[in-house]
Amino acid sequence: TILILDFGSQTSHLIARRIREFGIYCELLPCTQKMADLHFKPKGIILSGSPYSVYDSDAPRVDPAVFESDVPVLGICYGLQEMTKLMGGKVEACEHREYGYAMLDIHRFPDHPFADKLLQGIQGPAEVWMSHGDQVTGAAENFLVIGTTGTAPFAAVVHKDKPFFGIQLHPELTHTACGKDVLRNFVTSICQASPSWTMESFVEKEIARIQQIVGPTGRVIGAVSGGVDSTVAAKLMHEAIGDRFHAILVDNGVMRLDECANVKKMLVDKMGINLKIADASDLFLDRLAGVTDPEKKRKIIGNTFIEVFEAEAAIVDKECGGEIEYLLQGTLYPDVIESISFKGPSATIKTHHNVGGLLEDMKLKLIEPLRELFKDEVRELGRILGLDDELVWRHPFPGPGIAIRVLGEVTREQVQIARLADHIYIEEIKKGGYYRQISQAYAALLPIKAVGVMGDKRTYEQVIALRAVETTDFMSADVMIGAEWFLTLKRISSRIINEVKGVNRVVYDISSKPPATIEWE
Ligand code: XMP
Repeated sequence: TILILDFGSQTSHLIARRIREFGIYCELLPCTQKMADLHFKPKGIILSGSPYSVYDSDAPRVDPAVFESDVPVLGICYGLQEMTKLMGGKVEACEHREYGYAMLDIHRFPDHPFADKLLQGIQGPAEVWMSHGDQVTGAAENFLVIGTTGTAPFAAVVHKDKPFFGIQLHPELTHTACGKDVLRNFVTSICQASPSWTMESFVEKEIARIQQIVGPTGRVIGAVSGGVDSTVAAKLMHEAIGDRFHAILVDNGVMRLDECANVKKMLVDKMGINLKIADASDLFLDRLAGVTDPEKKRKIIGNTFIEVFEAEAAIVDKECGGEIEYLLQGTLYPDVIESISFKGPSATIKTHHNVGGLLEDMKLKLIEPLRELFKDEVRELGRILGLDDELVWRHPFPGPGIAIRVLGEVTREQVQIARLADHIYIEEIKKGGYYRQISQAYAALLPIKAVGVMGDKRTYEQVIALRAVETTDFMSADVMIGAEWFLTLKRISSRIINEVKGVNRVVYDISSKPPATIEWE
């Protein structure tokens, strides 16, 4: 295991992702982690970047014990500065914050082959990405300089006798083309970690772990949504305990077209999972009547979901003699990272997680088989478990569903219009072969009317906005563009206007995130 200590940089989780991509297991823990309390012995430790300055009075500090064993350490950006300061070197503010590309010159030490290991195989000058306000201006004693840039005389350093490395550049970003090699050199050649983290081995271990936790008679209940995470989690659970896993699908009235029937086909007919569909669409839609505020919509849907799920779970529990002990949740690693961050969860822009209150009064114990995994690992796991490609690569869909894609008041009629337009949109995206390239696409129904002409009649109807974005982490996103794509959009527009009653105009949203968000509400 490689340990990554997170000092709060926006990109710390990317370090973990890169290392997992090499098939090497790593854990990201808050920088406040004490070495003495660690539950495993790491083969190497990486110190991440940080928004702080090492001289800030409230700056996060590394446990000096990190440097007291012979475990290799790699400090990245703040990590390098923190290491330098701790060992008596000098760190100062740059005159101008450096943000962007720089050329890294590499210095080799033929008499000291260990020093060359970090940048082995990398040709200098190499294009690297810098993002820092402070930098090392005097290396600590016994450090050799293995990399410099025009503005950073200590861009990469190594201790003469100990396996301590530091780099100012960001190897976790794809902008740094040699970044993967730097990280790979560190974890394989310096830490000697072996690639044993595969989804195949994960399946075996996780199924055994679930069986052990749940025991030979215990039962588990969990909500499914038709999305990748809950379906993969359900499939894994079914493999482990068969019919003792009970899935519940709550129809909240704002799901995609024919979603319940499709989930039933997939989970029940194909996978043989024990599924109960709770049609609560009227309850949800009645409670949403007259509500236009997006956060209020989220709250109503979140709370109603909990209420319905709890009631259904109680019925299922009664039916099987009160043997349900566990609640399955498809929590992923990024949520775990966020919840353990030393800064606390980041500022709420939208309340995305709407099942948080579920456990409090249900007296169930939580089981989270995906909590160590990144999204791409979950997709790979789904593939290994034999799920259809269509499901494995499905776009994410928000919990509040079409309610936040019908702008303004949510009525049954408005939901149906948005649903039909969305269905046509996604169908055409798949036909055109764009589905995998796009990370998320949907149709939103705007609460405004526009004038149009159909035959020789004037129309006065609503507007559909189409959105399609490309992103890897959904924190920032680019709009999908391209000449061919625009021709496809034109075709989609005419299909929607012809086939969906109540719509006479289609627009394409060309805003990036930030400053826009992916959803309109
Ligand atoms: P935004 O709109 O914040 O969306 O750029 C980022 C990602 O989160 C999804 N999203 C939600 N998911 N409940 C969810 O489960 C929500 O309330 C919610 N709001 C946004 C959005 O679809 C995108 O993938």
